Amino acid sequence: AKEPMRVLVTGAAGQIGYALVPMIARGVMLGADQPVILHMLDIPPAAEALNGVKMELVDAAFPLLKGVVATTDVVEACTGVNVAVMVGGFPRKEGMERKDVMSKNVSIYKTQASALEAHAAPNCKVLVVANPANTNALILKEFAPSIPDRNVTCLTRLDHNRALGQISERLSVQVSDVKNVIIWGNHSSTQYPDVNHATVKTSTGEKPVRELVADDEWLNGEFITTVQQRGAAIIKARKFSSALSAASSACDHIRDWVLGTPEGTFVSMGVYSDGSYGVPSGLIYSFPVTCSGGEWKIVQGMIVVVLKVKT
Ligand code: NAI
Repeated sequence: AKEPMRVLVTGAAGQIGYALVPMIARGVMLGADQPVILHMLDIPPAAEALNGVKMELVDAAFPLLKGVVATTDVVEACTGVNVAVMVGGFPRKEGMERKDVMSKNVSIYKTQASALEAHAAPNCKVLVVANPANTNALILKEFAPSIPDRNVTCLTRLDHNRALGQISERLSVQVSDVKNVIIWGNHSSTQYPDVNHATVKTSTGEKPVRELVADDEWLNGEFITTVQQRGAAIIKARKFSSALSAASSACDHIRDWVLGTPEGTFVSMGVYSDGSYGVPSGLIYSFPVTCSGGEWKIVQGMIVVVLKVKT
């Protein structure tokens, strides 16, 4: 039997946390043969709710779940973790300046970065979900210099999956037959969802999405804005922001990173730039990547067609 892996979820009493922890405990993130110990961190005002989540995890009797740590202590939460999913943070509220959100997150991510650096398992893989995800990941990376740069990533897989979903709906094909869309940039409305390398598996082989859709106006217009603005559309419909899709995509991100991407398939991950595609080195930016042996690699040589430049 495999040794359990310890998975930290910060902000675990929140909406994404509530959707995410049962997926992890079911083996969706690390595989159906991988036992897990969940570490859940939240802040003192949410401690009681966090304990309620722990009670439900016990009640669900997940066979793979070998332990639960529910705490408001950052050090206890970070100790020995192999995977850290950072969902907690200070979201931008109405009337708040961007710089105010930023300074709140700098102090949160500074503390959590130091705790991870000092107490996490060696080679701990970090995924930042909390917005602004790219910036929070950058802050974490800067304040945890002994964690390798390649171990700090942010979530753009939700945008990637949204793009797959839109193509599948449009063509009435199985989403599992669509692959190789790319999200370039940030998890924000400035991202560029790119279908120029995407394909669909058909009975007569793999075909380019552009050829099958055969409607450049839709691909260059509505498709892009739908993916970019999907988060806002979910809030409008549900009155809460995306949670189950964010949680599921976080599992996809870690699963592919740890267990590898299928041959011929790439996925989007926010990773530190090595200067590829002219993106300044050190920024956390979403690229197409393949994963193998627990390491991601930026796919090189994609021709980037810039259709619209925001000014
Ligand atoms: P939520 O407000 O329901 O939950 C956030 C939780 O974090 C709360 O329980 C809160 O008490 C906790 N928290 C706040 N400060 C903390 C700290 N210093 N340490 C530990 N926990 C802390 O929010 P929700 O809906 O779960 O979203 C979480 C974050 O994920 C938000 O920042 C949201 O914008 C972001 N998000 C990112 C997506 C992506 O694709 N990258 C998609 C959807 C949401």
